[in-house]
Amino acid sequence: MNVNFQDQRILVTGASAGIGRELALQLAEKGPKCLILTARREQMLVELQAEIAQKQPGLKVLIHACDLAEQSEIDGLLYFISREAGAVDILINNAGMGDYGLFENSSWKKTEQILRLNIEALTYLTHKLVGPMIALKRGAILNVSSGLGFFFMPGMSVYAATKHYVTAFTEALRIELKGTGVVISQLCPGPVVSEFAQVAGNSDLLAKAPSGAVIGAEQCAREALMGFAKGQAVIVPGDLIRIATVLGQLVPRPLLRWVLASTRGRMVRRGQTPEQAPEVAKA
Ligand SMILES: NC(=O)c1ccc[n+]([C@@H]2O[C@H](COP(=O)([O-])OP(=O)(O)OC[C@H]3O[C@@H](n4cnc5c(N)ncnc54)[C@H](OP(=O)(O)O)[C@@H]3O)[C@@H](O)[C@H]2O)c1
Repeated sequence: MNVNFQDQRILVTGASAGIGRELALQLAEKGPKCLILTARREQMLVELQAEIAQKQPGLKVLIHACDLAEQSEIDGLLYFISREAGAVDILINNAGMGDYGLFENSSWKKTEQILRLNIEALTYLTHKLVGPMIALKRGAILNVSSGLGFFFMPGMSVYAATKHYVTAFTEALRIELKGTGVVISQLCPGPVVSEFAQVAGNSDLLAKAPSGAVIGAEQCAREALMGFAKGQAVIVPGDLIRIATVLGQLVPRPLLRWVLASTRGRMVRRGQTPEQAPEVAKA
């Protein structure tokens, strides 16, 4: 089922930076009725709102700063939307964060934030908004998962696990929603230039990715919206990562475990020791 962005009220989470910011900019060109943009950093949202206003004068762009890791703040966002926009026709669950390092060294505060944001907030927003969509027999949801929704990665155990949740949740919901008029898709990017690596506490993450695998946020958003408009179940932006995602799933698990077996030793040698564990949770 196709997704039309024209005349729709579209909510984008995590719109202050990276992929979400690009999604907002590109959606603004597709004739929506209203964009509702959220993230924690209000100033970044104000600047984005001004940029869109300059390019698309007349388009209604609502911004609401909140911490999606707090359910009460999500309720505040939903109240704001009901007051200012009425309803959401298209939900883009993009906000997410990761952490890099050995699990034993991780900060519980940051781990909890990841679980709340990547899993709880995405599920809660979907739960609150899918019912009204079904009642109207129309609507669309795009959940941003990751290539790691299909694989596991030592050093990013919790993050990858949250994306397995997003992938499984979205696949199952897609089947449940068949025939309701509501479509749900997922975006599964590989490495994308954004603030993600820095927030995860390892700015070198992208440098370690195979050359040609890293794409820009602009390309990621463009391919995401192209696939979402066609109602694709799974959208993997970037040719190389798309092929790697398909082939990677054919690799037997024992072989993957064997290839990744030396990760702990390597991370310890590189200084991912308990004393040096990164504490970079933002806000
Ligand atoms: N970049 C990659 O390589 C990559 C690969 C695969 C999947 N992804 C996924 O793509 C999505 C977007 O990530 P990105 O790469 O664009 O990262 P990013 O540049 O760090 O952007 C993350 C966005 O989420 C928002 N956010 C973070 N914590 C939040 C919170 N507690 N409450 C509300 N908003 C919050 C951030 O805004 P504030 O800080 O202003 O709140 C920001 O707008 C994520 O789900 C990520 O897991 C990224």
